[in-house]
Amino acid sequence: MSLHGQNVLITGASMGIGAAIARRLAAESATLILFARSGDKLKALADELKSARDGVKVFTTIVDVQDHQALSTAVSKVVKEVDHIDLLINNAGLAIGAPNAFPDLKIQDIITMTGTNINGFMFATYAVLNEGKMKERGKGTILNVTSTTGLEVPPFPGEAVYHASKACQEAFTNVLRTELVGTDIRVLALRPGVVATNFHEQRVGYDKCSYDEFMEGFEPLVAEDVADAAAFMLNQKDRVSVKALDVVPTAQRSLQVFDREWNGRLCDVGICGSIHGLKK
Ligand SMILES: NC(=O)c1ccc[n+]([C@@H]2O[C@H](COP(=O)([O-])OP(=O)(O)OC[C@H]3O[C@@H](n4cnc5c(N)ncnc54)[C@H](OP(=O)(O)O)[C@@H]3O)[C@@H](O)[C@H]2O)c1
Repeated sequence: MSLHGQNVLITGASMGIGAAIARRLAAESATLILFARSGDKLKALADELKSARDGVKVFTTIVDVQDHQALSTAVSKVVKEVDHIDLLINNAGLAIGAPNAFPDLKIQDIITMTGTNINGFMFATYAVLNEGKMKERGKGTILNVTSTTGLEVPPFPGEAVYHASKACQEAFTNVLRTELVGTDIRVLALRPGVVATNFHEQRVGYDKCSYDEFMEGFEPLVAEDVADAAAFMLNQKDRVSVKALDVVPTAQRSLQVFDREWNGRLCDVGICGSIHGLKK
């Protein structure tokens, strides 16, 4: 399927994976509809996309996905300009409060994580299917950015709310796919492993020691790696659904098993300068 001229709505587009997918799809001449809460970052990205490619259309809206009314209004408004939404990249999400165990989390952190990762995820889907005319047209793609955590719901203590919310996204993805039988709407799950974005810094409250300890010894993905995987899923023929795709650092063998000698081995063969973020 060519992405040329397709109307793509990306939630959580202001940075990280969402912004990288926007850049990747702009290069394929898609029309970008970018949602997030940070208006300054959305504007900077829109300016960058427009100056990088003549004629690319970019619409930005400041919206909190936890607010279903604001989301519906935002989708209705943009549909007046573009007529309908072809693709939803359901990506806005976050983890906060690590490494606290569940009873030690702040209640507001629980509300924010579930409100964004569960409610927001469903509200965006609902708005695109209805106000975005995807259901009426019976055609389109919903690409849900879940996580390897959603698949490998971890049998270890830690991050109960985030991991459960990602498992919920996986369940929702599977059920929605079956409910939309009789339409040409594809519902797909893209599951990143560890990606070096704001996500992991925010997860540990921007505590540098915790961040460095988590990233110790291996090379994480960068957002562009995930954008390449998304583009692969979206560029398939209409009859082909890459239903789910795990894209993880090679050093991340499972949620718990990391090869923390990865960087050391690369340095031994003299190519450690290529490692993202590794101090030389
Ligand atoms: N990084 C990883 O290792 C990793 C691994 C697996 C899965 N994921 C998933 O990938 C997705 C993107 O993460 P990322 O790594 O790109 O993180 P990121 O760099 O922190 O970006 C998160 C994006 O979500 C937006 N967002 C957060 N809360 C929002 C809300 N209430 N309403 C609207 N937008 C909101 C943020 O924008 P504003 O702050 O401007 O609103 C930002 O654009 C998330 O769903 C995350 O769970 C990430």
